[in-house]
Amino acid sequence: MPKIHFFEFGGREHAIDVPPGTSVMQAAVNSGVPGIDGDCGGECACATCHVYVDPVWLARTGGRTAAEDELLNFAATVQDNSRLACQIRMSDALDGLHVRLPESQH
Ligand code: FES
Repeated sequence: MPKIHFFEFGGREHAIDVPPGTSVMQAAVNSGVPGIDGDCGGECACATCHVYVDPVWLARTGGRTAAEDELLNFAATVQDNSRLACQIRMSDALDGLHVRLPESQH
């Protein structure tokens, strides 16, 4: 089963095994990772699942969708590697994915 490594803003790590097909947001919510609320249930409408994808993983996660890009315009501390975790689906190709949480979700 693929694993995601979440890093809270303060650096605390949560390594979670996730069934393929699960969104990164849902994996965090299911496991109680603090800082990812997923208020809209994954509908790309709240940005409470904002994460920074480790740059070495960006090619595999792919880029933002247009809707995601628009919503992130309203999020705090957006970076080039910002994504909405609800829009990333886990697969075996993403086994070992590293994502970091922004300070605004600390
Ligand atoms: Fe609302 Fe991702 S859970 S935008």
